[in-house]
Amino acid sequence: MHKIVAIDGPAGSGKGTVADLVSKECNLVNIDTGATYRSVALKALQNNVIDDEKAIIEISKNIDIKFTPDKKVFLDGVDVTDEIRSKEVTKIVSQVSSIVEVRKNLVELQKKMAGDNDCIMEGRDITTVVFPNAKYKFYLDATPEERARRRFEQNKEKNIDMTYEEILENIKMRDYNDSHKEVGSLTRTDEQIYIDSTNLTIPEVVKIITDIVKGDE
Ligand code: DC
Repeated sequence: MHKIVAIDGPAGSGKGTVADLVSKECNLVNIDTGATYRSVALKALQNNVIDDEKAIIEISKNIDIKFTPDKKVFLDGVDVTDEIRSKEVTKIVSQVSSIVEVRKNLVELQKKMAGDNDCIMEGRDITTVVFPNAKYKFYLDATPEERARRRFEQNKEKNIDMTYEEILENIKMRDYNDSHKEVGSLTRTDEQIYIDSTNLTIPEVVKIITDIVKGDE
């Protein structure tokens, strides 16, 4: 079987940055599953159907999402890399990702994206639902305050205008939603290697993961 490194964890735990760096070190295709949910949420906003569950399910069935090696996201052929991180999308994405049918469709899409490639995939349900048989399973964590601080710094760089308090509130709301889903909840299991990154730098977290993945080759 191809090599799968699965990373789950809450919003702002650093999964995206870490997965990107580990993918380069270990030569893995990087699949950001959160971006698939964000793309569905963006399309629901564009089509003005955020309160119409059926329409959102339809969107998730037929959606055309492509990731490029330089970390860009294309939705229906259009570069939406920045738009899917907007405040508007961030506010509604956990509601969209709670719809069971949407999850079913996107899990299938994520598996298709992985194909036969050696890959690193990050999200909320990768170690439990998408690839429960992955050889490497990690749960990346940090306190809500530290995660909000990191998002605040990231947003500043991207000119996304949200206060620290707004971000912290959004993170706590998403933590609640992420761990109370009917299907695909963010859960800790005995099979995951747990990493608390609150007091770790990004390179330190990357090293822990690459040492394990490379050490086993
Ligand atoms: O990791 P992120 O913030 O980009 O994720 C966006 C949303 O998608 C987040 O609210 C949780 C949800 N999500 C999910 O339910 N399952 C995944 N595998 C990945 C993300």
